[in-house]
Amino acid sequence: MDSVLPHDVPSGPPAGLPDPALLATLANAFFSALPGSAPQPDGGGVVGGAPSLAGTLPLSAPVLGELSNPVPAGSPLAGPGGAGTGVPGAALPQGRLPGGNLLPSAPTHVLSLGNRAPALAPHAAAQNGLPDSAVTVAPALAPRFGGAALGVSEGHGAQRPSAGGAPAPSAVSSPSASPFYFLGDAGPAHPAAGASSDIVVPGWSEVTAQSLGLPGVDEPLSGQRFSYDRPDEPASAANTHTARAAQPAGSSHYFLNEAQASRLPGQKSGMADAVPHAGASAHPPFDVNAIRRDFPILQERVNGRQLVWFDNAATTHKPQAVIDRLAYFYAHENSNIHRAAHALAGRATDAYEAARSKVQRFIGASSPDEVIFVRGTTEAINLIAKTWGAKNVGEGDEIIVSHLEHHANIVPWQQLAAQTGAKLRVIPVDDSGQVLLDEYRRLLNDRTKIVSVTQVSNALGTVVPVKEIVELAHRAGAKALVDGAQSVSHMRVDVQALDADFFVFSGHKVFGPTGIGVVYGKRAILEDMPPWQGGGNMIADVTFERTVFQPPPNRFEAGTGNIADAVGLGAAIDYVQQVGIENIARYEHDLLAYATSVLQPVPGVRLIGTARDKASVLSFVLKGYETEEVGHALNEEGIAVRSGHHCAQPILRRFGVEATVRPSLAFYNTCDEVDALVSVVRRLSARR
Ligand code: ALA
Repeated sequence: MDSVLPHDVPSGPPAGLPDPALLATLANAFFSALPGSAPQPDGGGVVGGAPSLAGTLPLSAPVLGELSNPVPAGSPLAGPGGAGTGVPGAALPQGRLPGGNLLPSAPTHVLSLGNRAPALAPHAAAQNGLPDSAVTVAPALAPRFGGAALGVSEGHGAQRPSAGGAPAPSAVSSPSASPFYFLGDAGPAHPAAGASSDIVVPGWSEVTAQSLGLPGVDEPLSGQRFSYDRPDEPASAANTHTARAAQPAGSSHYFLNEAQASRLPGQKSGMADAVPHAGASAHPPFDVNAIRRDFPILQERVNGRQLVWFDNAATTHKPQAVIDRLAYFYAHENSNIHRAAHALAGRATDAYEAARSKVQRFIGASSPDEVIFVRGTTEAINLIAKTWGAKNVGEGDEIIVSHLEHHANIVPWQQLAAQTGAKLRVIPVDDSGQVLLDEYRRLLNDRTKIVSVTQVSNALGTVVPVKEIVELAHRAGAKALVDGAQSVSHMRVDVQALDADFFVFSGHKVFGPTGIGVVYGKRAILEDMPPWQGGGNMIADVTFERTVFQPPPNRFEAGTGNIADAVGLGAAIDYVQQVGIENIARYEHDLLAYATSVLQPVPGVRLIGTARDKASVLSFVLKGYETEEVGHALNEEGIAVRSGHHCAQPILRRFGVEATVRPSLAFYNTCDEVDALVSVVRRLSARR
């Protein structure tokens, strides 16, 4: 047997790579030619007073030893004071900061997020060796701190290609048609586009409340600071977008009335992204390219390709407004809430309670007191099963779920049934993956205590007729829980119109942070529910003999909750409302119709879930391939999908499979991205 020993490893550069000595010579010649970088007599020695690394790093030391400030002022590769390596992904060696002895006295990194613009925050390196993020230059939908901080006009910096590889239309439009995208300075585009030295990177202190559309932190949000009362909503950034409604001629809008699958197979790329106008609504026109620029992660490169994110059912990406809001919270408001008479406690409490009010309005609850913050949908359903369920479900009672449910809407009820002697009943589905309402009617009886169903199936995408299900549950005297984890980001939800007793969702699936989610419950039901966790924040009075609990929602929020991420969720909701949930629903509907029309005909593809009413999800299997193989092939092209059982094994088994490949769409996806996915599937299909 061949041994694999260290001496078997070739010592020279791998075939095809240049020789290190040659590289070093070329690099030395390059940096010697830079203005102000005359070679030092000792060939390296000391840079900025720090000890030389020459001799220990044969390749890099001669280069680093000679550079003084290789990075132009304002370059994204520059650190404070112009320091930088000039090499994407190359770390500054300790003590090798050009321009002065900036070696920290403590072993902490000199550069911190606090003195850099958000777009320059550390990130994973692209695997192709290219810079893996670019400064955003074209107008995004939302004003942002990042753009304000960089002060970049359209003519500056890197142009980001659209999903199809061409520059985004608005990135190449004339300056006069394209205003700066930062708040409060919406004048014409910078006339002198082109000089990178125009880029200004201010200190973090220039992140203002106003740049985030927030009230000034020193001005009370309401007259009720430090009280437990909820403040009025701070002014939203939404109004600032009305000026944005005037789009440059030729920009892409989504036209409502052309709502059929807008691109047929073979139809020219670009047409489908000339997307619909949302009509005469209060919202700005739906411009997918502008929206994409609000999501910095969409510029990431994976395996040399621009990331295509089709794993939105697992989690969604965050717009810059959410990222900035979180940073702002920690920079200016961070405190525990409800607990102290100091300024930051007031700011944090106001921000947290404002987020609760945003959730209330987003889902149509009648009061913020009906909104409980939890970690996510899973915790939300567990809370209900362990409080309401423990009090109201007993031996012989019945709990109904549907065959479509995520494990999070099965297991807590199974646990409750096991503890109480109740039974779990399951609404079957037809071969398209839609629930059978007649079968459901037959399951309901006077022992039914709760019906808990998803509004959109995470594995199949089926949109379930939850209004009808809730109504039938109520007629039988049962309560109804609607799992909105997969619905809130795709369609308007109005819990009062649904008449749901409970509605639950996760922040991270609606463009907010992870670790924050919501239980909505009708006030009278919440008031009748015992707490599930005990501790601080949820009590009114404690002695060793007894505890008096707070009313809802605090009764269900024991301990220090996820304050910042609740605030971030509020920002995500603001963002979604700015775009307009109806606009999102229409755009995604057509994108899903288009994706279905091009994927379904590929030989060997079997769609799992073909209900007439679907949202976002396009589950499939490909003959001759394991789902992981398809997932890997897509990943090689930078396309992210989930392949597996999607935490919904019962419904996949109903269709005779253990796993599917699951692209799941969001409103920042495009037809070009769908085409990229389908071309990989076609290629695989042709091989077997
Ligand atoms: N529930 C998430 C999904 O469907 C994790 O992928």
